[in-house]
Amino acid sequence: MTHYLSPSILNSNFLDLRATIEMINQSEAEWIHLDIMDGHFVPNLTFGPPIVQMISSVARKPLDVHLMISDPDKYVDNFIEAGASILTVHYEACTHLHRTITHIKSKGIKAGVAINPHTPVSVLEEILPYTDLVLNMTVNPGFGGQQFIESSLTKIQKLKQLIEKTGSTTLIEVDGGIDTDNLALLLKAGVNVAVIGSAIFQSANPIAKIHELKSIMQNFSAEANS
Ligand code: DX5
Ligand code: ZN
Repeated sequence: MTHYLSPSILNSNFLDLRATIEMINQSEAEWIHLDIMDGHFVPNLTFGPPIVQMISSVARKPLDVHLMISDPDKYVDNFIEAGASILTVHYEACTHLHRTITHIKSKGIKAGVAINPHTPVSVLEEILPYTDLVLNMTVNPGFGGQQFIESSLTKIQKLKQLIEKTGSTTLIEVDGGIDTDNLALLLKAGVNVAVIGSAIFQSANPIAKIHELKSIMQNFSAEANS
């Protein structure tokens, strides 16, 4: 089973962006998570395609770009051109979600759908055969450092059952409030990709923290295979 760690740079020091990306390059993390916020879909603003492109010029790992923006169709091509390898749009922000997802995939990259904590997994039934990834928000999107919503665990189990029912190979990603205390439970519920921000970037030694988080993933895989 696939288990990836995708460090979110949202709460890193943006004055040291190059060093942050180089640290992730050298770490055991597989992806780099970039949070794009428009001040409309979520009550916060971050950055757009030019910064993604600069990050792409230094990154040696796939850019996992999470669009927390209204009307993402306007910008998906810009983010693909900027170097996104996985581009995730919110279910709540897309009127013609199937069109958006198939368009992203037609450009040769992976497409994801994100759902907010209040959105039931059942709304994904028809789109699951087309997605590469479902991002289940485990906090209300907009900020790093928020508290994990505990009911997410049963929601992920439901999502896993729905994925199995539809025969989809889509990965389950979770984002928000994740650390060493809840990662193993999330893996057990069926999570493939963990987005982790503050726990890594507020740590005194981010490389060591990434190693600790990856060890939890490896131990889980070893136990699951034994
Ligand atoms: C929240 C973002 C997350 C955030 C996670 O809206 O989508 O990616 O950076 O940060 P932590 O791990 O601090 O909750
Ligand atoms: Zn995110």
